This record gives sequence, C-alpha cells and structure tokens, in this order.
Amino acid sequence: MRFKDKTVVITGAASGMGRSAALGFAREGAAVVACDLLEDEAASLLAELDAAGGGGARFVRLDVAREEDWEVLARMLRDSGGLDVLFNNAGISGTFDPDLSSTRAWERLLDVNAKGVFLGMKHAVPLMRPRGGGAIVNMSSISASVGQHRVHMGYSASKAAVQAMTRAAAVHYAEDGIRVNAVAPGLLPPMRTSRGSADPVWREKQIDAVPLKRAGHVEEVATAVLFLASDEASYITGVELAVDGGFLSL
Ligand SMILES: NC(=O)c1ccc[n+]([C@@H]2O[C@H](COP(=O)([O-])OP(=O)(O)OC[C@H]3O[C@@H](n4cnc5c(N)ncnc54)[C@H](O)[C@@H]3O)[C@@H](O)[C@H]2O)c1
Repeated sequence: MRFKDKTVVITGAASGMGRSAALGFAREGAAVVACDLLEDEAASLLAELDAAGGGGARFVRLDVAREEDWEVLARMLRDSGGLDVLFNNAGISGTFDPDLSSTRAWERLLDVNAKGVFLGMKHAVPLMRPRGGGAIVNMSSISASVGQHRVHMGYSASKAAVQAMTRAAAVHYAEDGIRVNAVAPGLLPPMRTSRGSADPVWREKQIDAVPLKRAGHVEEVATAVLFLASDEASYITGVELAVDGGFLSL
C-alpha cells in the first residue's frame, strides 16, 4: 500500500490515463480527489474508486485553466488536512481543431495543457510544504520533443512548456521536499478531443514508427505515474519519463 493515508489529486480523472491512475492510487490506499469537468462521470468513477479501495474518494468539478477553481479546491484540501501527491493530467488534443493555424486553438491548448499545469503546481505546493514534502507528476507527451503531422503546434508548445516547467519546479521546490517529474506518453488510445489523431490510417502510420510496434495501454502510463509519485522514486526529480514503446529513441 504505497499511498496509504496519502491524499492524491488527479486532474482529468474521469477518463483515459487519469482514470486509470486514479484507480491505481486507490488500490494502493490513497484518498483520491478526482477532478474533472465531466460531472456526469462522477458517480461511476466514485463507485469504481470505492470498489478499488483507498481512503475514500471525492469528485470535484474543476476546470484546470480557471484559477478560481483551484482556489476553491485548495481551500477544501487545506480544511481537510493538505495534499501529498498531484497528478497534473488534464489536457486537450492537438487535433481537436483541424485548422492547424487556428489562433483560438493555440490559446485553448496553452490555457488547458500548460497554464493548467502551472496553476496546479502553484496551488499544490503550499499544501505540501507543511507536510514536509510531496510529489508532483505532470503530463507531458512525445509531442514536446518531436513534430507530428496533423498536430497543432500549440499542442507541442504546451507540452514543451510542461517539460520545461517540470525541470524549473523540481529545482524551485527541492528544498521543500517536493519532487516534480513528468511522464511523456507516445501513442495511446485517442483522447476524447482527438479528431485527426483518432483516424485509423494516421494511427497505423504512427504505430509503424514505434519500435515495440503497438500502441500503449493506459495502465502502462498509470504504472509510471505511480512509480514517480511513490517513495520508490525518492531520489528522482526533474525528469521526464517517456512511456512510448521506444518512439523517441529512433
Ligand atoms: N492519448 C494520447 O495519445 C496521449 C499521448 C500523450 C499525452 N497525452 C496527454 O495525456 C493526458 C490525458 O489524456 P487522455 O489520453 O487520457 O485523454 P482523455 O480525453 O481520455 O482524458 C482527458 C481528461 O481531461 C479532462 N479535461 C479536459 N479539459 C479539462 C479542463 N479544462 N479541466 C479539467 N479537466 C479537463 C477531460 O474531461 C478528460 O476526462 C492529456 O494531458 C494528454 O495531452 C495523451
């Protein structure tokens, strides 16, 4: 039970990798605070989390791009004792808008994927300090490191911002006992907001470029997240762990 008596906040917890990680943390004893915009998913998510175990899960409607929402969450966590782990996972796809030169898409991608991660760290750190430390895992992507056809450059920029913020925050908060790392998944199941990257032909080509010759499973990313958030990674901070079947090694 690596996370017994730990409070773990996960953004974008209602779906995909966030949901898988939430279940993983609950199985390891954590009290999961599952945050998302998708309130309709709350009941089924909480039922799954309670069945998995853990210290009692809660759902909070939170838009990661809205600082007011983070302030409300931070007050709630302060009143209930603080925070040990933050998984800054929520994000939108770089193919949600087929117009690769859309300025609106650029703004939205940076708002959710990059500012959302910044705000999460900003509001998590003051809750972790009084507990003598904590762990933050940020959701990056292989798109931070390579260009991809059909993917808006705002997505790549947002994930490169996550990569850079992870290193900066690791340095800033090391003296508080807070470790900050990132995971960079490669080809995983399409996101809810994926359009171009959900196209089977596009996916086939991408998979062909993966040395392991398959897409990843959400559980394989969740495993990496739990490791980085756990005491087993006690001397690891500021790294981005690729979970990409070797894609970035080509
Ligand atoms: N699927 C992939 O191939 C892939 C690859 C690399 C990285 N990623 C990243 O992984 C993360 C999770 O993606 P996923 O594949 O599980 O996709 P998903 O669409 O299944 O999950 C994303 C979750 O984030 C939530 N969300 C979106 N905007 C939000 C906001 N403003 N505030 C709060 N919640 C919000 C959604 O409601 C959803 O539950 C994202 O950051 C994504 O960029 C995905």
